[in-house]
Amino acid sequence: MLSSKIPKLLVQCLLISAVFVSLNALSDSVDVAAAEALAKRSNCNKCHSIDKKKDGPPYKETAAKYKGKSDAEAKLVKHMTTGPTIKIDGVEEQHQIVKTKVDSEIKNLVHYILSR
Ligand code: HEC
Repeated sequence: MLSSKIPKLLVQCLLISAVFVSLNALSDSVDVAAAEALAKRSNCNKCHSIDKKKDGPPYKETAAKYKGKSDAEAKLVKHMTTGPTIKIDGVEEQHQIVKTKVDSEIKNLVHYILSR
């Protein structure tokens, strides 16, 4: 009786872990090359780097600031697409707008920044 149950349990365990693995892969799936190419194309690197302070905050700092915040994605999409007024050395200017209109490309860059 017991011996016939073990394979079934095993299959169930495998199935459950497969679901978790694919869920994780979904939430973490960042196309790093595409994100970096878009950042380069949009001139973001002029003021941002992953971990060094330039005119703008490093991506690691932004990731830490928004860690665990459910509105992080929406806030950063807005920041990158609406060109809010920022101050650099006391001088006001419009923040760079990301050079794409494709939602999935913008979100990919946001997820890239948030996962640094
Ligand atoms: C001319 C310099 C400059 C360029 C170019 C620039 N940024 Fe920024 N960025 C800043 C500054 C300065 C801040 C800080 C603004 C503030 O805190 O008010 C900032 C803030 C940010 C933040 C943090 C926003 C937040 O809510 O904490 C992100 C993310 C960001 N920039 C992404 C980008 C991306 C993506 C690009 C390219 C599309 C880009 N930046 C181009 C200067 C720049």
